[in-house]
Amino acid sequence: MILDGTLDASVQAAALALQQGQLLGLPTETVYGLAADSDNDAAVAQIFAAKGRPANHPLIVHVADAAAITRYAQAVPVFAQQLIDAFWPGPLTLILPRLPQAAQASTGGQDSVGLRCPSHPVAHAVLQACQQLDPPVWGVSAPSANKFGRVSPTTAQHVAAEFGDALLVLDGGACEVGIESTIVDCTRGVPVLLRPGAITRDDIERACGTRPLSKEELPAQTPRASGTLLAHYAPNAKVRLMDAGQLQSALDLLGPEGRHIAVYHRSPLRSASRAIHLRAMPGDALATARELFGTLRDFDELGVRLIWIETPPDSADWEGVRDRLQRAAAAG
Ligand code: TXA
Ligand code: MG
Repeated sequence: MILDGTLDASVQAAALALQQGQLLGLPTETVYGLAADSDNDAAVAQIFAAKGRPANHPLIVHVADAAAITRYAQAVPVFAQQLIDAFWPGPLTLILPRLPQAAQASTGGQDSVGLRCPSHPVAHAVLQACQQLDPPVWGVSAPSANKFGRVSPTTAQHVAAEFGDALLVLDGGACEVGIESTIVDCTRGVPVLLRPGAITRDDIERACGTRPLSKEELPAQTPRASGTLLAHYAPNAKVRLMDAGQLQSALDLLGPEGRHIAVYHRSPLRSASRAIHLRAMPGDALATARELFGTLRDFDELGVRLIWIETPPDSADWEGVRDRLQRAAAAG
């Protein structure tokens, strides 16, 4: 059931549902989440079951404000505090050392916890209402509201299509950011970028004075972020990334099979076959992120078998979009 998330009554109903251990489709500025009370292990188990997500992929705990960090994290390093001051509320998740009793199922028992304070007004209203309940709900765990490995939802309708009418979904409109939050691991003494997003490596460096390392620059470790698995964000069609020259050559060679192909391009294309579904990528990274997952869903709805995408620029502002596209392509 979809409720208008801008109404107080819907927000209250949603907060009560969370307190009672139910799941909720929650709009955030990045993507829609499938939410449950972070400290209710049975409710959190339902998230893993509904998504088909392996239990060793921890969930992000969403909080109403930075004060709620003390309910989940043991300590906040100076550079993490600088990131909080600069970017919360907003699309930034910090991995911090976890308090032993907090969010156990959510974190899969790991000694760290991912925390994020979203800026979306509906998410914020729900989190605040949760804090005011008796007993309060201090944190709300929410992975993206899609089946494991699939494209993340950016509208309430996407969530309802994925999980059916039985799920309560708050409608907060189309997500502003469109790709998941930037994740920075703050447990290693220096910031480590686990997942790129709208807040870029450059933004992080400006805020805390240290350029974040990449996971690849760390000593060997086990991967623990599902958003960081190589194959993820997969539409039904096979995705292939190409530079402008490759794309043009491939189009030049196409015959009638072109009707099975959708193209998401940046450069102007010569004499593309009319049968092809063409869509131009916006010129800037933020606008592309906003429409990216919806565009992949639209292509799937056309029933195409292949999606050819022109590789975005190599600059830091495009890192989040490039990452999602590379992983959608790896899933093929
Ligand atoms: O924008 C977002 O972050 C969205 C919205 C709903 O807030 N949520 C989201 O959740 O993308 P999810 O579960 O799809 O991705 C969370 C990522 C996963 O890759 C998970 O492994 C990682 O965060 N993560 C969570 N806790 C972690 C921890 N303690 N250590 C390392 N990675 C963690
Ligand atoms: Mg996800």
